[in-house]
Amino acid sequence: MKKDRQPAEPYRVKSIEPIRLLSLEEREKKLVGANYNLFKVDAADIYIDLLTDSGTPAMSARQWGALMQGDESYAGAVSFRRFEKTVRDIFRKKKVIPCHQGRSAENLVFSTILKKDQYVVNNTHFDTTRANTLHKKGIPVDLPCPAAYSQDPLPFKGDMDIVRLEQFIQKHGTEKIAMVIMTVTNNSVGGQPVSLANIHEVSQLCRRNHIPFFFDCARYAENCYFIKRDEPGYGDKSIREIAAEMFDACDGVMMSAKKDGLANIGGFIALDDEDLYSRIADLMIIVEGFPTYGGLAGRDMEVLAVGLEEVMDFAYLDFRVKQVAYLGEQIKQAGMTIIEPTGGHAVFIDAGLLLPHIPAERFPGQALTVEFYREGGIRMAEIGSLMFGGIDPVNGEKVTAKHELVRMALPRRVYSNSHYDYVAETSERIVSKKESLIGYKITRQAPLLRHFTCDLAPVNLERVKVEK
Ligand code: F0G
Repeated sequence: MKKDRQPAEPYRVKSIEPIRLLSLEEREKKLVGANYNLFKVDAADIYIDLLTDSGTPAMSARQWGALMQGDESYAGAVSFRRFEKTVRDIFRKKKVIPCHQGRSAENLVFSTILKKDQYVVNNTHFDTTRANTLHKKGIPVDLPCPAAYSQDPLPFKGDMDIVRLEQFIQKHGTEKIAMVIMTVTNNSVGGQPVSLANIHEVSQLCRRNHIPFFFDCARYAENCYFIKRDEPGYGDKSIREIAAEMFDACDGVMMSAKKDGLANIGGFIALDDEDLYSRIADLMIIVEGFPTYGGLAGRDMEVLAVGLEEVMDFAYLDFRVKQVAYLGEQIKQAGMTIIEPTGGHAVFIDAGLLLPHIPAERFPGQALTVEFYREGGIRMAEIGSLMFGGIDPVNGEKVTAKHELVRMALPRRVYSNSHYDYVAETSERIVSKKESLIGYKITRQAPLLRHFTCDLAPVNLERVKVEK
C-alpha cells in the first residue's frame, strides 16, 4: 500500500500503556454481552479505541508538571486565575466560567438565555448541543452550507448557509431566535472546517439583528490550522492571530476542552456580557460549583491552561491534520468511501454506500462498527440513523439520518501510524466480505441520545421484514 510522505510526530513517547487484542471468540462474547453497543464494551477489551477524540489525549510533560501546581482552594484559586488569563488571551472575552465539560456549558447557557419554543440556529448541532436545546424546550435548526454534503473535496464544507440564515431571520424574526452557534470544526458534518469569511458574514448578520452569536469551539485550533492552510490571505498569520480574529467576531464561546484543550476533562464558557455572566454564575453555584472552579479541580485548570496554548503549536497541528489524512487515504485505498477532504479529528466512512443491502432502519453504520470490533478489536462510533434517527421530538415523525456514517476519531498524540496501518488492514478484510454483514434492530432505548445506552440485536434481513 502506497504511503504518502508526512512529517514524523513532533514529540516522543515518555510513558506507555499496554494494549491487548482479545481472541476472536472473546470479542464475539463481548459483543453479545454489550448487546452490540460498543459504548458498553469495557476499554480493557478494546485494542485500538477510535470511539472519540474527547478526553482521550496524551498529556505532555509540561501538563503533568503543571498538574502538580494545582491550587485546590474553593474560591479564587491561583489555578483559576492562570486558566482565566489563558482563556481571556486566546478567546478574547472578559468573563470566564470553568465547567466540567462541554455539555455542562451548554446546559448553563441554554438554561439562562433560551426561552420555550425559541430557535437555536447552528451550522450543525453536535448531538449534546441538540439534546440540551431540546431539553430546555428550544428548537434546534441546522443550516449547513450547500457544499456540506457534496462529494467534492472543497476546503470549507463546515460553513453555515448564509442565505438560508438570512431568510430564516426574516421569516421568524429576531425575537424567536435565542442564538446562533457556529460549531468549529463542524463535527457532525465530517469534522469539516469553517472559513473566516463565513464567520464574518454570520457575525455581521447577527450583529445587525441583535442576535447573540456564540461558538461551540471544541476544535478551535484545528479549525484555525485549516484557515491558515486554505483560506486566501491567512497563510502568513499565526494560529493565535487567526483565533483572535475568529473570536473577536462573536459574543461568547462554549468549549468542550476535552478536545483542543488537550485535557482529559474540562470545558468553559467565556463572554463579555456582565449581566449574562451573573445569571450563569448564579445558576452555576446551584448546579455545578463555585464560579471559580465550576466542577473542575484546580489541577484540571492548570492542565487546561497549558493545553490550550500547546495545541496552537503549528508543528503539532500540521502533524495531526496530516495523520488524519494519512488514515483517510488508507481507508480509501482499502475500498471504503470517506468524506473528503478529511477534517481535523476523524475519518468518516460512508457505511450506507459500503453496505447498500442494509437499509437505514437496520443501521448500516452500526453493522460496520460492530464488524470493526469483531474483525480487529477496534472501536469507533456510528454517526447515522442510530444516533440521529427515531421519532422527531419536534414533529413526531419517524426519521432516518441524511447519511449513514461511521466515525474513526483520532485521540490526540496517542496512536502512531503503525496503529493506523493496522486499522487500514482490518478495513481491507471487512471490504472483502461486506456482503455478509447483517443489520441490527433496537431492543431498548432512552428518549434522548439513545445511541449511548441502547441495546441492539442482529437481524437476518432475509427473514425479518423491515417496518417502514
Ligand atoms: N460540542 C461539540 C462540537 C462536541 O464534539 C462535543 C463532544 C460537545 C460539544 C460536548 O462536549 O463531551 O465535553 O460534554 N463531542 C464528543 C465527541 C463527545 O465524541 O465528538 P462534552
